Amino acid sequence: MQFTSMILSNVEVSPGYWRMRMTAPQEFTEARPGQFVMVRVSGAIDPLLRRPFGVFDVGIHIPSHSGAAPQPYFEMLYRVVGKGTAMLSALHETDLLDVLGPLGKGFDLGEPGEEKLIVGGGVGLAPLYLLAKELVKNSPVRLFAGGRTRDDVLCITEFERLGVECYSATEDGSLGERGFVTKVLEQRLDQTANRGAMFACGPHGMLEAVAAIAAARGISCQVSLEGYMACGVGACLGCVAPGRNHSPETPDFRCVCAEGPVFEAGELKWGGAA
Ligand SMILES: Cc1cc2nc3c(=O)[nH]c(=O)nc-3n(C[C@H](O)[C@H](O)[C@H](O)COP(=O)(O)OP(=O)(O)OC[C@H]3O[C@@H](n4cnc5c(N)ncnc54)[C@H](O)[C@@H]3O)c2cc1C
Ligand code: FES
Repeated sequence: MQFTSMILSNVEVSPGYWRMRMTAPQEFTEARPGQFVMVRVSGAIDPLLRRPFGVFDVGIHIPSHSGAAPQPYFEMLYRVVGKGTAMLSALHETDLLDVLGPLGKGFDLGEPGEEKLIVGGGVGLAPLYLLAKELVKNSPVRLFAGGRTRDDVLCITEFERLGVECYSATEDGSLGERGFVTKVLEQRLDQTANRGAMFACGPHGMLEAVAAIAAARGISCQVSLEGYMACGVGACLGCVAPGRNHSPETPDFRCVCAEGPVFEAGELKWGGAA
C-alpha cells in the first residue's frame, strides 16, 4: 500500500544512526518481520528514487498530550550514508513522507520452542528487532550483534527488554569480544552442539560467513539481503542476486525485492556480489 506518513519522532540513537517513528494505516501494524518499505525522502525531483528500509518496529503510539487519539505507527532504524539518508535525518516531527509498503517476503518464524540465534551487523539489526519481538513469544532467543566500534552496535537495551540474551563483538574491542561477531556465534554453537535456527542481516561479508557456518554445521539459516533497489516491486530487475545454481552459462537470479529480501542461505550463491 502507498500512504502519506507523518513523522512522530526522529532521533539520533548513536553517531550517524537514526530512529524514526512514523504514522501508518492500521493494516501496516500487521507487517511481518523482515518486510521493508520504500520511502520517498523528498517531495522534490532529487533524489528521484525511493530508498528501501527495513521495518524496525510497529505498534500503537500513545500521544503525550491528552485529547489526541492513539495512532498506529512503524519505525525505521537508519544509517546516514548519502544524500537520501542525510535528508531523512534533517526531518522533524509533523513532516510528511510518502511510503510504499510493507513489501517483500519476511522471515519464516520456524518451530516454536527451538532456540533462535539472531545475527546482526551494524544497521543490519534494523529488521531483526521486530523478528525478536515475535520469536520471544514462543522460543528462547539469543542475539549476536557486531560492529566496527561500540557506536555501531545499536539498540541492545531494547532487545534485552524483550528478554533476548545478547552477545556483542566489535572489531576494535570497545564493546564485547574483540573481533567478528561470527566468532562469538561459533563459540555458542560449540557449547550447544549446533542447536538452533539462525537469522541474519548485515554486510554481505558477514552474511556469507554466517551462511558458511550454518552450512558446515547443518543448521537452518535465513538471511536478509540489503542490496541496491530502484522500484522495490519486481519491475526493474535492478536488485537481483545470484541463486545457488548461477553460472555464466546457466544464469539463475533471485529478485531481492519481490522474492526476498529474506532467503534461505542455501538458496543463494555465495562468493559473488549480492
Ligand atoms: C531491503 C532493504 C532494506 C534496507 N534496510 C535498511 C535499514 O533498515 N536501515 C538502513 O540504514 N539502511 C537500509 N538499507 C540500505 C538503504 O536503503 C541505503 O543505505 C539507502 O538507500 C542509502 O540512500 P542514500 O541516498 O543515503 O545513499 P546514496 O546517496 O544512494 O549512496 C551513498 C553511498 O552508500 C552506498 N549505498 C547506497 N545504498 C546501499 C546499499 N543498499 N548497500 C550498500 N551500500 C549502499 C552507495 O554506494 C554510496 O557509496 C536497506 C536496503 C534494502 C535493499
Ligand atoms: S528493485 Fe526493481 S525489481 Fe527489485
